[in-house]
Amino acid sequence: MAERWSPDSWRKKPIVQMPDYPDRRALTDVEKQLATFPPLVFAGEARNLKKALARVANGQAFLLQGGDCAESFAEHGANNIRDFFRMFLQMAVVLTYAAALPVVKVGRIAGQFAKPRSSPTEKRDGKELPSYRGDIINDVAFTEEARRPDPRRQIEAYRQSAATLNLLRAFAQGGYANLASVRQWMLGFVKDSPQSRRYVELSERISEALEFMQACGLDLESHPELRTTDFYTSHEALLLGFEEALTRIDSTTGDWYATAGHMIWIGDRTRQLDHAHIEYARGVKNPIGLKCGPSLKADDLLRLIDVLNPDNEPGRLTLIGRFGAEKVGEFLPALVRATRREGKAVVWSCDPMHGNTITSGSGYKTRPFDLILKEVRSFFEIHAAERSYAGGVHLEMTGQNVTECTGGARAISDADLNDRYHTVCDPRLNAEQAIDLAFLLAELLKKERVSQVRPMPAAASL
Ligand code: TRP
Ligand code: MN
Repeated sequence: MAERWSPDSWRKKPIVQMPDYPDRRALTDVEKQLATFPPLVFAGEARNLKKALARVANGQAFLLQGGDCAESFAEHGANNIRDFFRMFLQMAVVLTYAAALPVVKVGRIAGQFAKPRSSPTEKRDGKELPSYRGDIINDVAFTEEARRPDPRRQIEAYRQSAATLNLLRAFAQGGYANLASVRQWMLGFVKDSPQSRRYVELSERISEALEFMQACGLDLESHPELRTTDFYTSHEALLLGFEEALTRIDSTTGDWYATAGHMIWIGDRTRQLDHAHIEYARGVKNPIGLKCGPSLKADDLLRLIDVLNPDNEPGRLTLIGRFGAEKVGEFLPALVRATRREGKAVVWSCDPMHGNTITSGSGYKTRPFDLILKEVRSFFEIHAAERSYAGGVHLEMTGQNVTECTGGARAISDADLNDRYHTVCDPRLNAEQAIDLAFLLAELLKKERVSQVRPMPAAASL
């Protein structure tokens, strides 16, 4: 695989999960047009994220990555983005406090539009149509017209990503993320939830700490790190024609970057070593994620690591396990051991969503909250046993008050799923469940902190 890489070298490789565009000319036209559009992110930002992830790889930070399974054109409103961001900030603050470590914040947002499917077609009432592959490709409605892949949707996805990213940047840098507002991030419907008290208590402690520091003479206004946060974007790099059109040379380093998002990941279904998706990812300098499922053997993982991160650069590669609560104990340890034995500098993250999807009695695709928690717990236990660092989580969640995953503090039941089941793809944690999970993670991180012998300067003389 030491062949020359170029943004289009993936085109000569076998590929899976690609839509079949009936109008090839229209597709080429769109790709040409996209190639003239401005990049969505700047290479320097992707490098900053890589540095932040290098700290995670070294056990000095924690990665929080999450967002919709798939963004949709229909749900592109300011409130939606704001509620997501608030929830994300709440989770981040809970984790930062508990771990006493920086939290690297990466949204599955502003570009998360393309979906791999288990079957290329879908049958309903005897009718067979192409599967829905995400709004960047076709429409979810079950008609021939809607399901036909339409390249112009890529332009729409680009524009939506730009607008979303613009608002996120404004929130992250413009004052919304100010720690002085920690109390106000709480969402209305979470306010009367069982765990809201815990959040109020925490926000009071933080506010008190800030007031104390101010009383000590620290000028909070002169510390932008208290007012702003670095928020990064990520998506699955599935639709390679789109990614290629937004692959640009960074003029300051001469390196290629994927500029549709800061971080991209390769799915568990498209990670074949000699296939197109790995070929594309190996050539861009962004931080890369690799989803690891039960079918991945340790040897294959090591080969993938050699291709994706030949220089063993920390922060370049995040391995995102997605095994399922019942399988993680069987499959993760061997992979962790292999990376430890070979001295691979990787971030290990846990996706407790995709291995825990079931069909409920009422026919909805759902995920029991208990199984999600169970996989997260096992992930921490396994890393502790292997003396490896449990570096982060990768979640599907929304700031909206949906009913898509069962369980949680409000004990959403199978029968409740029908109330507000809005996802066009996989079931997401709602804001309450996500914050609930953040508190559980906080406990696990605290435990990790206590059990770890981190050298503390001057501790001996106290
Ligand atoms: N800048 C720091 C950080 O991003 C502190 C911070 C500011 C923060 N606003 C925040 C932390 C909101 C969590 C949530 O970590
Ligand atoms: Mn999903």
